[in-house]
This record gives sequence, structure tokens and C-alpha cells, in this order.
Amino acid sequence: MKNCILISLPGNQQLTGVLASKLNMQVGDIEMRDFPDGESYIRINSNVQNKIVILICNLVHPNNKILPLMFIAKTLKELGAKKICLITPYLPYMRQDKRFKSGEAITSILFASLISNWVNFLITIDPHLHRITNLSDIYSIDSISVLHSTKLIAEWICNNVDSPFIIGPDEESRQWVDEVAKLVSAPYAIIEKTRYGDREVSISMPDIREKDKTPILLDDIISTGTSMLVVTQQLLTQGFNSPVCICVHALFDEKTVNNLLNAGVQKIVTCNTIHNTFGQIDIAYLIVEEILRLKFD
Ligand code: R5P
Repeated sequence: MKNCILISLPGNQQLTGVLASKLNMQVGDIEMRDFPDGESYIRINSNVQNKIVILICNLVHPNNKILPLMFIAKTLKELGAKKICLITPYLPYMRQDKRFKSGEAITSILFASLISNWVNFLITIDPHLHRITNLSDIYSIDSISVLHSTKLIAEWICNNVDSPFIIGPDEESRQWVDEVAKLVSAPYAIIEKTRYGDREVSISMPDIREKDKTPILLDDIISTGTSMLVVTQQLLTQGFNSPVCICVHALFDEKTVNNLLNAGVQKIVTCNTIHNTFGQIDIAYLIVEEILRLKFD
């Protein structure tokens, strides 16, 4: 792919390295630093004239990343880049997709319109699509690739769990649970969850009888871990086996991990869309395949 160049933003070197070697693609040279006053200095040292520039910038914790990313994308265009492709394995700001209380900002829409100003291709993995069912409803980008980790998650379960029973901790997890359960030919159940605050939820468990199986709690995101924690407590109280918690995007910190393990979770497994020590399920190849499919001609 001679007409493409990869540019990695800080923290994305690992994925960039995989893409560069699998796709035989050049990695561009960029200088980024903060001036003493905290403002960004950016310099692009590679020739990007008439090239498709693939920016690798995982936008987890996006607020400090978005301004430098915009500076880079706009500078690339000024320097003659033909198109800009943004790869962000985790797409942030997808959960505030509605004005739940008067006066709230609908940040999903605002964030989408910001990114849409300077990106031509977007590649991401399992965005939190709920009330917004398609990214193209809020992103005005020529080409949007939404990749799915369900096959990889199912493969992990098949290779590591003998008798799984898949449980979705809320209605929003149904799309992942339904697909993975089909792929592993396992039974599943969806729990009814009501959220009262960032760390406060209540659940209503359906009647689950498969006490001899291994419960796999599956969701797209684990953040504070509250959803998984409450389900785990209920399962253990009812005499189920210790569950395995699986998610696509690990937004959690060490405290969450400790809370889950102390509550009796036997294992935490995640995709590596966000770098973390439990990220056993590698999504890099999904992105490689998508770039090959897009061809960027
Ligand atoms: C939201 O609806 C997501 O699917 C997750 O259920 C949620 O982000 C999990 O958050 P927490 O780990 O803080 O309960």
C-alpha cells in the first residue's frame, strides 16, 4: 500500500507496529510535545502529499487527545494529504446519546460532529450503539467501518470454558450476548438493570436454572464494574458457580478489578481495544483485514 502512511499518536505504537508489519506500510514521523505553558507543538516530518494518512489514535479518555488530533488532521490536509482515516478501537462519548435530564449536553452527537469535520474514514470496534443504531446517524463521514469482536470472544469462550451460560447484565448488552451465545451454542439470559447513578444500579434476575454451568457475564464495557459486581453478588447468593466477566472495552481501573475479584469473580477477560493486563482477546487482525478490504484506492 504505497499510497498510504500510518501516523501513530502517543500510546498507540503497539497497534501501529502490527499494522505496519502486516500491511507493509510506512510509519510516518511526527513530533509532538507540550510547550511549557501546556499548549501543543506538532510537526509532521514525513511527506504526506497525495497520500491516505491512517491516524492511529485510541480515543479512550478523549478530552486531552482530541485537540492535538484535530491539529494533526488539519495540518495533514494543509500539507496535501488526500484522505484521513482515523482508527480508534474504542469510540468514546457513545453513552450520553440522549438528554436524560433537561439541560444536558447530548455529547454523542456533539463529539460525532467534531470528528466528522476532519476525517474521511473511521474504523472502530463495537461502539456502544443503543438508542443511536447506526454511527452514520450522527457521524457524517464518507466511510465508517464498525468491526465486531463477537467471533473472537466466542472463540475465547470455546477454548477456555467447558460449559458456559452467557449472561447480559442489561438490555444494552443483548446484541453481544445474543451473537456470542449463538456462536458458542450456549444458553443465555438478559438481566433487567436500572441505573440510578454512576455507581448505583439495581437488577432484577430472570429465573436461571443452569447452576451446574459457568456463568459468563458479557458486556461491551466495564467501567466502574458496578453492573458486573451486582450481578456477581446475586449469582453467588443464589448458589451459582463463580462467574467469568468478559467485556470488549476495559475502561476500568485497578480498584474495579479488586472489587470484582474480591466479590468472587473467577476471571476477567477483555479485548485489547484498550490496553490492560486482562486484554487477552486480540483485535488487531480485525483492523488489518478491514484495511485490506477498503483497499484505499
Ligand atoms: C452501558 O450501558 C454499558 O453497556 C455498560 O453496561 C456500562 O458502561 C457498565 O458500566 P459500569 O461498569 O460502571 O457498571
